[in-house]
Amino acid sequence: MRFLEQAGMAALRRMDAETAHGLALRAANTGLARLPGTITSPRLRVKLAGLDLPNPVGLAAGMDKNAEALRPLSRAGFGFLELGATTPRPQPGNPRPRLFRLIEDRAVINRMGFNNAGMEAMAARLATRPHGMVTGLNLGANKDSPDYATDFEAVLARCGPDLDFATINVSSPNTERLRDLQGKAALAALLGRVLDARAGLARPIPVFLKIAPDLSDGDIADIAEVAGDAGIDAIIATNTTLAREGLTGPNAAQAGGLSGAPLFERSTAVLARLHDECGGRIPLIGVGGIGSGEQAYDKIRAGATAVQLYTALVYGGLSLVERVVRDLDALLERDGFLTVAEAVGVGR
Ligand code: FNR
Repeated sequence: MRFLEQAGMAALRRMDAETAHGLALRAANTGLARLPGTITSPRLRVKLAGLDLPNPVGLAAGMDKNAEALRPLSRAGFGFLELGATTPRPQPGNPRPRLFRLIEDRAVINRMGFNNAGMEAMAARLATRPHGMVTGLNLGANKDSPDYATDFEAVLARCGPDLDFATINVSSPNTERLRDLQGKAALAALLGRVLDARAGLARPIPVFLKIAPDLSDGDIADIAEVAGDAGIDAIIATNTTLAREGLTGPNAAQAGGLSGAPLFERSTAVLARLHDECGGRIPLIGVGGIGSGEQAYDKIRAGATAVQLYTALVYGGLSLVERVVRDLDALLERDGFLTVAEAVGVGR
């Protein structure tokens, strides 16, 4: 089956990146791939903002924007899933092509622009989602919205009843004005409003904040302070970067956010800085460039209670998830940690 997966991946690599992505999701839904189901151990089990995760390796936002592959993704070995981004109204996103592989760099550049089917479609899919998988949603804003906070509130109110967590995303580089919300005053106002909307849910869920990697140490300190004061349940670090250092692939000059291997160091440095600032007050989720159990472990040692990945799946396929989780378990055992929690923030 690994051979079939590899042959399939090679065929997909020859296609336009977005067409390949759509086909890969449909192929996953055929049920042909051997998927491991839940992977857990006493060492891997972790509590994140009140959520019980079987293991700390999650799917990052953007891969399953419309909850189209929930069944295979729920059985791929992940400890939790983040869907979306979802905006109130459906929107087409930017003109294609808008997703580019940098094969030599094991990276991707995207300028999708929150293409998605909207919150009504997402709510309908969530209502029938498989039980037993911790599932969250990345909240997005419509490009033409006069007030992004209103959009986040609307998506949270509509989809919240069928979610385990929601993420305030102020860090996607492809929606104009969105990252301006990371400034201190704007962020405090935004978080206050979304957390008020959360209080209106019959079953209030944890709300996370996702930040960009392109922030100064001062910005990071401000965000940690504002998020802590507001009562944010966890911070996800990081989204894609606008930086373009050290790339070799022919698509390196494309506009958009860069993810994958070249993002690893930058996003882990932001995570470590955030860990210093938060001092354990807010749990952190490390994302950016993870392609191995070793790298997941590195993020945990830098301060992450859980991790997420996406771009490495473009190159390694869904079977990568099981390897990352099992290798992480082995590394924790090698170093004498009885739980993930013991390794959080011990240093890289
Ligand atoms: C993303 N990412 C993303 N993040 C987010 O908060 N909302 C979103 O809608 C999307 N959409 C999206 C689309 C595509 C095509 C990519 C490649 C990425 C960012 C993603 O969740 C993650 O933060 C980064 O990709 C870094 O992790 P990896 O991919 O290096 O593991």
